[in-house]
Amino acid sequence: SYIYSRERVYAMHQSSIDGVEDMSALAELHEAAIMHNLYQRYQKDNIYTNIGSILAAVNPYKQISGLYDPERVDLYSKHHIGELPPHIFAVANECYRCIWKRHDSQCVLISGESGAGKTESTKLLLQFLSVMSQKSAGTSPLEKSTRVEQAIVQSSPIMEAFGNAKTVYNNNSSRFGKFIQLHFSEGGNIQGGCVIDCILICI
Ligand SMILES: Nc1ncnc2c1ncn2[C@@H]1O[C@H](COP(=O)(O)OP(=O)(O)OP(=O)(O)O)[C@@H](O)[C@H]1O
Ligand SMILES: [Mg+2]
Repeated sequence: SYIYSRERVYAMHQSSIDGVEDMSALAELHEAAIMHNLYQRYQKDNIYTNIGSILAAVNPYKQISGLYDPERVDLYSKHHIGELPPHIFAVANECYRCIWKRHDSQCVLISGESGAGKTESTKLLLQFLSVMSQKSAGTSPLEKSTRVEQAIVQSSPIMEAFGNAKTVYNNNSSRFGKFIQLHFSEGGNIQGGCVIDCILICI
């Protein structure tokens, strides 16, 4: 154990005591302050926290009521990033908007250790984008576009049945890294997509 002299111990800054939604606003930025902020928020079921434009998600290992409701999709689709509390849907919405704003393809990179929630986050992104796509349908026949979105969302359990396995960290651990590509029409609806298993993960 370590013994610290009184001179080396100082009071926590108010921003760390209150907690912040965006950790770039922490007055003291070190590992302990980051972990403490995430922990404080996690205890209140606030699993999402921003670090500037990066979203940190802490796996709650339980269903948080209302967090991914259709109403939540609707709410986040109508606000710009930063206007509402941090959420995976805010990232998805920003990504969707930026396709046109920046006239370019967009990507979301999801990383984290096994069991961190990468696959769940991916499915939530797809769920949000598929709703946005269905709302914007109009340039192509509605029936056809709905089928594409359904195929993309419903393919996850099938892919998982083949690709996933139980490990000590995760009952549903992905055995491959995935590169998922979605193609959007100018009208904003998904026209197609593909999933490429790209990295074999060895444990
Ligand atoms: N946002 C969430 N809300 C509720 N439960 C979650 C959430 N994210 C993850 N979980 C739970 O944690 C489990 C593990 O998450 P997930 O399979 O997404 O991890 P992973 O990062 O893909 O891990 P691996 O690298 O092993 O594939 C899920 O099966 C689910 O039960
Ligand atoms: Mg996974």
